[in-house]
Amino acid sequence: MVVGIGRAHAKAILLGEHTVVHGTPAIAFPLPALPVRALARPAEPGTGSQVPADGHFRFTVGGTDTALSGPRVAAEEALRRWGITDTTVEVVVECGIPLARGLGSSAACAGAAVRAVADLHGLVVEPGELYDLVQCGEQVAHGRASGIDASAVLANGPIRFHQGRAEPMPIGLDAALVIADTGVPGSTQHAVAGVRRRLAEDPVRAGSLLERASGLIEAAGDELSAGAAESLGKTMLDFQELLAELGVSTPHIDALVTAALGAGAHGAKLTGAGLGGCVLALTEPASAPGVSAALRRAGAVRTWTVPTRAMHAGA
Ligand code: MEV
Repeated sequence: MVVGIGRAHAKAILLGEHTVVHGTPAIAFPLPALPVRALARPAEPGTGSQVPADGHFRFTVGGTDTALSGPRVAAEEALRRWGITDTTVEVVVECGIPLARGLGSSAACAGAAVRAVADLHGLVVEPGELYDLVQCGEQVAHGRASGIDASAVLANGPIRFHQGRAEPMPIGLDAALVIADTGVPGSTQHAVAGVRRRLAEDPVRAGSLLERASGLIEAAGDELSAGAAESLGKTMLDFQELLAELGVSTPHIDALVTAALGAGAHGAKLTGAGLGGCVLALTEPASAPGVSAALRRAGAVRTWTVPTRAMHAGA
């Protein structure tokens, strides 16, 4: 049987989550160690959606399946745009990214699904179109998504994202990032809505907060390319403070940040939407095992270490 295959990967946001929804830039990088693979094949009659618990799920496109999920909507829109209306396709997604942890699982599953459906039909999707299709799915999963997740889960290296455009971000840093999972699912939609409410309550404060955020993101870009790990850590902590003011940190996240600093990290902050999800700590490579152990002792359910030199999907 002919099978189409599509892949994507997780992402982590270094700086700029939430404020990016309100127009600031943001910096993110791919996490190829957490991959998604999707398989697309002609559907047998009667095949529908199925969501087993282990991160694998299945849906059909072009038939009577109406299950509302971002990947299904993205793949459905792809077939519509390509004028393929005479087939029903079954898509099986094997998601190696923990769900609802701010690591881009919904966008990565949508990207892999669209690529698989394209591959099944012998098509290669051009990057701009792929981004648009993943964004169609993200609007279902998240409401008004900025597009940073859609860009980063398809990117081959670190990116600077601003108002719908992603550019490669130069990295001159020899450090490590330790990602710690709180084990608590966070709803991006809920977190984004809460931030919007807070900003709307006090437009003057919102303006100065977003200006502060933009300044920190610009500083982080310079620190990344100059390899200034200590000051980048400080910038991450300042951004964490700002995210706490926006109401998306939690006592559990704060405790993990404190634990990472106590074990010698240069800085730490939540990554993604918050209200659960993951914490990102910046450390010297030699200190990464100690930071990782401290994060686990403080309640992280798992950790991943990414050397900054390996921040490329091909690495
Ligand atoms: C979620 O990974 C990032 C947010 O900024 C939402 C978005 O940019 O769409 C919280």
